[in-house]
Amino acid sequence: MRPEHPIVLITGASAGFGEATARLLAGQGCHLILGARRLERVQALAKELAAKHGVRTFAGAVDTRDTASVNAFVAAGAVALGGLHVVVANAGLASGLHKLWEIPDEDMEAMLRTNVEGVVKTIRAALPEVRQSGWGHIFFIGSTAGHATYEGGGVYCASKHGVKALAQTLRLELCGEPIRVTSVDPGMAETEFSLVRLKDEAKAKALYTGIEALQGADIAECIRWAMTLPDHVNIDELIVKSRDQASHTMARVNRRG
Ligand SMILES: NC(=O)c1ccc[n+]([C@@H]2O[C@H](COP(=O)([O-])OP(=O)(O)OC[C@H]3O[C@@H](n4cnc5c(N)ncnc54)[C@H](OP(=O)(O)O)[C@@H]3O)[C@@H](O)[C@H]2O)c1
Repeated sequence: MRPEHPIVLITGASAGFGEATARLLAGQGCHLILGARRLERVQALAKELAAKHGVRTFAGAVDTRDTASVNAFVAAGAVALGGLHVVVANAGLASGLHKLWEIPDEDMEAMLRTNVEGVVKTIRAALPEVRQSGWGHIFFIGSTAGHATYEGGGVYCASKHGVKALAQTLRLELCGEPIRVTSVDPGMAETEFSLVRLKDEAKAKALYTGIEALQGADIAECIRWAMTLPDHVNIDELIVKSRDQASHTMARVNRRG
C-alpha cells in the first residue's frame, strides 16, 4: 500500500519550514505539490527540485484562507501529479504582539483565518484525494504556543491551541483508516516568522542573537522521520525545541552575550 515515491502537498512552501520540508523530501524521492501566495517563489523551488532530484513537481498560488483557492490548488495538484498521499498543512503566521484589548481586527483575523480555518480548509480539500490513494499521512504544524501562553501572544496562542484540538480530533476521526496524523509543534525557529510578525528586520534578527535556534531543516527532518516510520507507528505529537530553549515560551532561554 505504501508508495515508493509518495506525493506530498505542502502549504506555505515559499519560505521557512515548508520550503525546507520540500527540499528534504525531494531528496528522498517524494513528488511535490507546493503552494503559497508568492507564486514565483514556489515555482522557482519546484523547478529547482525537479531538475536536481528528478522528482515531479507542481507549483500553485494558494491563499489558504480562501475556500475556492484551496480547493482549486489541491485539485490541480492532484490531477497534475496523479494523486496525493501526504499533506503538510504548514501555512501560518503570527501577526503583531498585542495585548488582547489592543489587537486590531486585521491581525486577529489574519491569524485565526490562516492558522485555524486555513488548516481545516486544506485538509478538507485534500482528504478525499488521500483516501483514494489508499495510504496517507496528515501533518499539522502546531507550536509550543499550543501548549502555553505568553503576554502579547493571546490570539496566536489561541490559534495554535486550536491546531492542537484539530490534530487530536482528526486522529480520532481517522482511526481505522490507513492514514496517520501527526502534529509537529516547534519552539522558536529561525525562519521568516518573526519578520512577518514584527515587520522589522533588526528586531526579528535580535530574537535569535546569542542562541542556537531551530532551523527549517530541523522541522523538515522531524516530518521525514515520522513519515518514514513503519505504517503501524503513529507519532501523534512532537514538541521540538532547541537545546537553548527550556520553556515553551521565552521565559527560560539560554542567551549567550
Ligand atoms: N518559526 C517559528 O518560530 C515557529 C514556531 C512554531 C510554529 N511555527 C509555525 O510554523 C508554520 C510555518 O512558519 P515558518 O516559521 O516557516 O514561517 P515563514 O518562514 O514565515 O513561512 C510561512 C509560510 O506560510 C505561508 N503563508 C502564510 N499565510 C498564507 C496564506 N494565507 N496562504 C498560503 N500560504 C500562506 C507563507 O507564504 P506566502 O507568504 O508566500 O503566502 C510562507 O511560505 C506556521 O504555521 C507557524 O505558525 C513557527
